Amino acid sequence: MHIPVLKEKVIEYLAPKPNEHFIDCTIGQGGHALSILEKTGPKGKVLGIDQDSVFLSQLRQTIQKEYKNRLLLAEGNFAHITTIAQQEKFKPVHGILFDLGFSSLHIEESKRGFSFQKQEPLDMRYSLSNPITAEKIVNYWSKTDIERILKEYGEEQFSKEISQAIAEHRSQTPIVKTTQLVKIIQEATPKWYHKKKVHPATKTFQALRIAVNSELENIKEALPQAVELLEPNGRIAVISFHSLEDRIVKNFFKTHPSLSMITKKPITPSLQEQKANPRSRSAKLRIASKLPTHNT
Ligand SMILES: C[S@@+](CC[C@H](N)C(=O)[O-])C[C@H]1O[C@@H](n2cnc3c(N)ncnc32)[C@H](O)[C@@H]1O
Repeated sequence: MHIPVLKEKVIEYLAPKPNEHFIDCTIGQGGHALSILEKTGPKGKVLGIDQDSVFLSQLRQTIQKEYKNRLLLAEGNFAHITTIAQQEKFKPVHGILFDLGFSSLHIEESKRGFSFQKQEPLDMRYSLSNPITAEKIVNYWSKTDIERILKEYGEEQFSKEISQAIAEHRSQTPIVKTTQLVKIIQEATPKWYHKKKVHPATKTFQALRIAVNSELENIKEALPQAVELLEPNGRIAVISFHSLEDRIVKNFFKTHPSLSMITKKPITPSLQEQKANPRSRSAKLRIASKLPTHNT
């Protein structure tokens, strides 16, 4: 099950009111969307976007049956939020939510190699129509490019050693399973690195996931479009799960002339939430509102 992160805070600050319209750019299992729908009755709508068609099919069988034409679902990349909203004729927009990254179901059920603790194919795509997979990156990208993404997206201190080991291994046998990659990482890194709290494969897996799904590029593309779509006084909320994403959101909110930050500091989960939902530990929620006088 996916537990929605910082749900109460998202609702408190997005402040959905009766009959308002919201876009949930990462609807996933619909946890946040459901709370928004509860607050925006009787006529408010949610446009739920997700790249993962499996999740959208599940939502069609569950909450969409209950909320019918108050919940619109669109398969797509939120980097194309303007086009998606236009196609759905979704206007006006009073609030937009991004809950970035992967769902717990990606780890637990998708069998797409998101977890270094399972033996699965090295896929890591949110959208099955994405032509890039983790397998393609590790087997076909240059050693230098692999080293670069491990360093940039994983902040992996052994990026050089791991990329070298990947290049050596793949010249003998293709790397197709998560377990093969984990073994390569373990052999390429010193023993003390294995004794740390964080598993030695964590950063490499994060880097590959970010690269496969163009995660940083997508949020960079989506944020200005989202502001454009918002009504004056509309709210935008972003939950990020690593510092690279959070930096993009923070700088964007700080410097956009039409936005005012609702909270200066990011909102983080309480200790109680972190205990109940370990995935929430690294979450940071930032919220801004569109100024009443600006058109863009
Ligand atoms: C953390 S989960 C969202 C969970 C959701 N808020 C809930 O309460 O169930 C993130 C979701 O965003 C989707 N996603 C990630 N990047 C995306 C993108 N660029 N465009 C659309 N969906 C994306 C993933 O497939 C995943 O389902």
